[in-house]
Amino acid sequence: MSEGLTQAAYIVAALFFILSLAGLSKQESARTGNYFGIAGMAIALIATIFGPDAQGIAWIIVAMVIGGGIGIYYAKRVEMTEMPELVAVLHSFVGLAAVLVGYNSFIEPPAMNLANPAEMHAAHVIHMVEVFLGVFIGAVTFTGSIVAFGKLRGIISSSALNIPHKHKWNLAAILVSTALMIYFVKADGSMFALIVMTLIAFAFGYHLVASIGGADMPVVVSMLNSYSGWAAAAAGFMLANDLLIVTGALVGSSGAILSYIMCKAMNRSFISVIAGGFGQTVSVSSDEEEGEHREVSAEDVAEMLKDSRSVIITPGYGMAVAQAQYPVHEITEKLRAKGIDVRFGIHPVAGRLPGHMNVLLAEAKVPYDIVLEMDEINEDFPETDTVLVIGANDTVNPAAMEDPNSPIAGMPVLEVWNAKNVIVFKRSMNTGYAGVQNPLFFKENTAMLFGDAKASVDAISKAI
Ligand code: TAP
Repeated sequence: MSEGLTQAAYIVAALFFILSLAGLSKQESARTGNYFGIAGMAIALIATIFGPDAQGIAWIIVAMVIGGGIGIYYAKRVEMTEMPELVAVLHSFVGLAAVLVGYNSFIEPPAMNLANPAEMHAAHVIHMVEVFLGVFIGAVTFTGSIVAFGKLRGIISSSALNIPHKHKWNLAAILVSTALMIYFVKADGSMFALIVMTLIAFAFGYHLVASIGGADMPVVVSMLNSYSGWAAAAAGFMLANDLLIVTGALVGSSGAILSYIMCKAMNRSFISVIAGGFGQTVSVSSDEEEGEHREVSAEDVAEMLKDSRSVIITPGYGMAVAQAQYPVHEITEKLRAKGIDVRFGIHPVAGRLPGHMNVLLAEAKVPYDIVLEMDEINEDFPETDTVLVIGANDTVNPAAMEDPNSPIAGMPVLEVWNAKNVIVFKRSMNTGYAGVQNPLFFKENTAMLFGDAKASVDAISKAI
């Protein structure tokens, strides 16, 4: 493939990636968005593998078959609820790839044929900086993503690591790395400086994510998404590959925008998230029970629903675990057929990944127009007869508004307790992801329906 054709293919691929992002921003067009992404990536791969700089095509194809095989195997098996973990692992690969590309590019720099010695020198210095920054961003992304994976999996404690003078350590890591970069460039490349910086960046990435508490993990996942984009863009600079630069920048900036949206939704400061670890001063989390709770049976709930005029369902992570979205859709249809107004209230961080609940409800064919965002529905709870909290916990916790010492203080929540009756579907009195007890369970108008959410909703559906 000629150079010109490759560049043209790269432009087409970049356009497909932009169309893909546009498609992914709405549920109705998300599938088309995915197809655009697949098409863009296919064009990019073909143009790169058969492009003018390609060498060892057989090796590339062998690596792609092995890597692709492993990827397909895991992606097919992964549960929807494990998706963020998969994403975190994939981000760590991007980070590691950037580190390896950096070392490779340092050991065997690309040929630069500039006639002017001054230009040659400038290009060389720029390449050195690219290598250093690329390795730094890649290393931070690598260990940060591994910690995020560990936290989401429950292998690493989800509470925030709080070592003394944490911010000073972070600042020291950045300052020492900057000094090492100056030395690296002045010394015309130093393997020692590169290795020391890599170790510092590994520790920095680990610390950055370990310092962030469980409830704030959604922001971390999208932030690492952004970092992985910048790592890819850095690799693009080192390899002088324009498409990798464009794609990396697209991922980096869309991840940053998503992080910003998540921060707003959770009422957190964007800067303190990037700096690593926030809310750490108030983490006196309590998971002790605080009063008496009341239990109801599925039959009682069915009666209560039949007597209601308006019902709001607020789903959460437990609905995803139980795969209860199908029977939830069934009772929705049965109640709507009786003339009862049924709507859904979706918290921006319900579940374990952005849009988790919307995807599940769409999968079960719940009409989009009765699925509302938290801000659209929060004022309607006082006029609501019955709220079904299906497998949600942190996202309906009044402590976020009432207890300034709670780790989730300040996070906007669905104000379900303002409704006439609240039914909470869960299996026990256990806490949610953030590990804090929920005073909602002990309110007078709340009753608990214990058991697997799918079994409970099935039983209600039968009783209706
Ligand atoms: P959570 O606070 O995680 O609570 C889920 C509840 O579901 C648990 O209390 C659990 O109680 C119950 N549950 C689990 N399996 C169940 C089953 N089979 N049947 C019935 N109930 C079941 O959920 P949420 O309200 O959706 O909040 C999400 C949390 O995850 C937030 O803290 C958020 O910050 C965090 N997070 C979100 C994201 C994104 S981007 N959405 C990413 C990472 C983390 P039992 O064990 O008693 O059943």
